[in-house]
Amino acid sequence: MLIVARITNLERERSKISSNLNIGFVPTMGALHLGHESLIRQAVAENDYVIVSIFVNPLQFGKNEDLDKYPRQLEQDKAICQKLGVNLLFTPSATEMNTLNDETTLVVPPISMMSVLCGKYRQGHFQGVATIVTKLFNLVKPNIAYFGQKDAQQVAIVHKMVTDLHLPVKIKSCEIIREESGLALSSRNQYLTLEEKQEAVLLFNSLTLAKKAFLQGERNTKNLIRIIEQEFKNNPILTLQYAEIVHPKTLKSLTIITESALMAIAAYCSETRLIDNLILTVKKPIIAIDGPAGAGKSTVSHCLAQELGFLYLDTGAMYRAITWLVMKNNIDVTDEKAIAKLVNIAEIELLPNDDLKIPVTVKVNQQEVTEAIRTQAVTANVSKVSAQKAVRDKLVKLQKEYGRQGGIVAEGRDIGTNVFPDAEVKIFLTASPKARAKRRLIDLENLGENNVNLEQLIADIEQRDYLDSTREIAPLKKADNAIEIVTDNLTIEEVINKIKLLTIF
Ligand code: PAJ
Repeated sequence: MLIVARITNLERERSKISSNLNIGFVPTMGALHLGHESLIRQAVAENDYVIVSIFVNPLQFGKNEDLDKYPRQLEQDKAICQKLGVNLLFTPSATEMNTLNDETTLVVPPISMMSVLCGKYRQGHFQGVATIVTKLFNLVKPNIAYFGQKDAQQVAIVHKMVTDLHLPVKIKSCEIIREESGLALSSRNQYLTLEEKQEAVLLFNSLTLAKKAFLQGERNTKNLIRIIEQEFKNNPILTLQYAEIVHPKTLKSLTIITESALMAIAAYCSETRLIDNLILTVKKPIIAIDGPAGAGKSTVSHCLAQELGFLYLDTGAMYRAITWLVMKNNIDVTDEKAIAKLVNIAEIELLPNDDLKIPVTVKVNQQEVTEAIRTQAVTANVSKVSAQKAVRDKLVKLQKEYGRQGGIVAEGRDIGTNVFPDAEVKIFLTASPKARAKRRLIDLENLGENNVNLEQLIADIEQRDYLDSTREIAPLKKADNAIEIVTDNLTIEEVINKIKLLTIF
């Protein structure tokens, strides 16, 4: 690991790095702990070359703050960086970084983002952060820079600065690392006595209590903040400085939480100022639509997804994508072993698409296959491939992963029973065999087939229903708590409106 303290040396080393390499950067003020380590580890895992800076930046400390007593432990920090595989450690002095307030240009983030949370109590702090981070970005020229969500206001401000100033770097925000007790790791925890440290867990515990209320449905920020304030009342060691709930990106104050929110607090533990936060997210629902073939599931599902701005989880397209991949690799569609191997490493992505005819864009191993999976050849083989256990297991797992983020409409035969048993809205969309046969008849006539017998179509549909509900893999089944909608006399719009009424946000 190279260690440089001078800017000229940093620039020289930086110019030696090939432009093909990805450079990850972790700016810190040292006194490294497991929180910093997690950022460094992620940078090492995701980049070819990693630069860490250690600089206790005078610009971001107020007059009465702890600049002089801020912990400095360079030797220990060097060993940590070395151990984690950092390539270059930059440890400039204050003179080297020219950080005298009245002698340097300052980067000023939006006032609206600095006048809330910590900014309200730490005049000039975020200006100091923005200035030093810009200087460091210009010197290090990283592809990706890593910041901790622990300093959520800092992350939001850096994001905004990078966007507004078109800085050529990607910002990644990493989760808060905590002690087992829940206390967020911080270099300032070193100031705490054992007793204070035990008390300091209240920051996390009070946030958790408010989050519990949020998860139980409380959306009014005043009530959530009151829960936190109540916890701090009469505490002999801790004094709450603020508890605020703001938009995680703009930092604008929120009254009611409709999507996601940043709930942040600062408190003094004796003389030590500590901060912590949690993100609150209103999960959008999963709408699971099951039902027999021909009831209008796919049309209803993709129109509904489009109207709600949800992702249409086109499970059929996923099975087609695997089938396409099997055929592209010249694997026999009955060769279960080879297919299982292929499926294990396959990466399938569904992305929302504005086109009503093709509601999702499909990618397999990063290649777009939206149209390629609709060929006759794929259609002819898809049922053989989708019947295989390895294929099904992999795709159900993937579907569940999509479900975790919420905001999806999925349709099939066992979505509400097997794939998303906890879906917020479950629909069983059905129609009498006669109604479905009539629709099919019209479709076929539109395709120029005029010699079709309605009675025969009804018999075919009844037979298919029987097979679908008795098949071994993923049989058609109505979930106990699903709401049945019979579409015989309903238009698609009417069906969609019925489902929308059931979907309360
Ligand atoms: P510092 O407090 O040393 O933190 C460096 C980085 O580590 C920040 O991005 C911070 O959010 C992250 N970090 C700190 N504690 C963490 C924890 N418990 N879990 C996860 N990440 C954590 O933040 C600064 O330095 C400075 O403001 C800096 C960006 C270096 C500019 O001077």
